[in-house]
Amino acid sequence: MNKLLIYYSLSGNGDAIAAALQQQGFALRKVSPKKKMPKAFFLQILAGGFGAGIGRKEPLEAYDPNVAAFDEIAIGSPVWNGRLSCPINTVLAETDLKGKKLTFLLFSGSGAAPKAEQQIRSRFPDAAIVHLKEPKANPQELEKLHQL
Ligand SMILES: Cc1cc2nc3c(=O)[nH]c(=O)nc-3n(C[C@H](O)[C@H](O)[C@H](O)COP(=O)(O)O)c2cc1C
Repeated sequence: MNKLLIYYSLSGNGDAIAAALQQQGFALRKVSPKKKMPKAFFLQILAGGFGAGIGRKEPLEAYDPNVAAFDEIAIGSPVWNGRLSCPINTVLAETDLKGKKLTFLLFSGSGAAPKAEQQIRSRFPDAAIVHLKEPKANPQELEKLHQL
């Protein structure tokens, strides 16, 4: 199986997941927004939280949206305002995921995100969803990735 992780990470939790999945044979594609997020956390919450709340698709630096060579795709997103992050909204709009074995990896402060789950279930009813609670600070959370 050719396996690919497409992900976004603002503060390193997604990167911790990527490093673990690379060990499991996943190829990695990290996306980056064209516009950098502010440094102050409360400004990040304002910008990212509001954008995620309205389903904003953040314009991204050039990346390869072609996933034809892969059978199994994992999509990694931080949870913003309970929802998928704005960069991952863009990935989902630009990537043809039909026929792929799909897993969403949601990382968050709380370890749960019912609204993000709804967003995923409405579009990808067959996708698996795995929640990880701040895996950078809690490396035992990465054990949840062994099922992939
Ligand atoms: C803009 C913003 C909004 C967030 N909203 C939530 C939230 O609604 N629920 C939650 O549990 N954590 C929330 N968090 C925390 C992140 O989801 C969490 O720290 C995640 O692990 C960050 O991943 P990263 O380090 O790869 O960017 C938010 C963080 C940011 C920056």
